Amino acid sequence: MAQGSNSLPAVLFVCLGNICRSPMAEGAFRAAAVKAGLEAQVDSVGTASYHIGEPPDPRAIRIARENGVDIGGLLGRQIARDDFYRATHIFALDKANLQGIRAHAPRDGTAQVALLNDAVEGLTGRGIDDPYYGDEADFRRVWEEINIAVDVLVRRFLEEGLSARFDRKD
Ligand code: 4NP
Repeated sequence: MAQGSNSLPAVLFVCLGNICRSPMAEGAFRAAAVKAGLEAQVDSVGTASYHIGEPPDPRAIRIARENGVDIGGLLGRQIARDDFYRATHIFALDKANLQGIRAHAPRDGTAQVALLNDAVEGLTGRGIDDPYYGDEADFRRVWEEINIAVDVLVRRFLEEGLSARFDRKD
């Protein structure tokens, strides 16, 4: 990921394992940005170390591929100190992930940290549930929820650039 100090959004999606939700979000955001003509950096990580170096869950790869997005080459990584300076915007997939991110955050980190669904009107404060112990239908629902949110992010970045803030005000 490029430095967060440049003029492009550098977006980091964060879930627990970095094999289901956040790689889907990375792929979905990258595809939506390309389609909309938004230039941005995008990456994903987990708060936990369980799946470092592993590709996404086969169910996540399949759902993404069905939607024309290839995430098969991504590899699991755990959030690191540098991420808080490289990213301009860090999005947690659920509230536990948000707590996990805050536990890793350096005091002077420069990235904005928000819950992904805080960007979506009517869904603020709502996490996107972990589909790992679920079935294909859960992965499909998660893909759809993620896509609703990333479409909002892309539109807001196009309209507001790096000054876009996504954290809820309540
Ligand atoms: P993710 O899903 O956080 O969306 O990548 C999970 C993947 C693995 C585990 C939990 C959640 N796990 O416990 O191994």
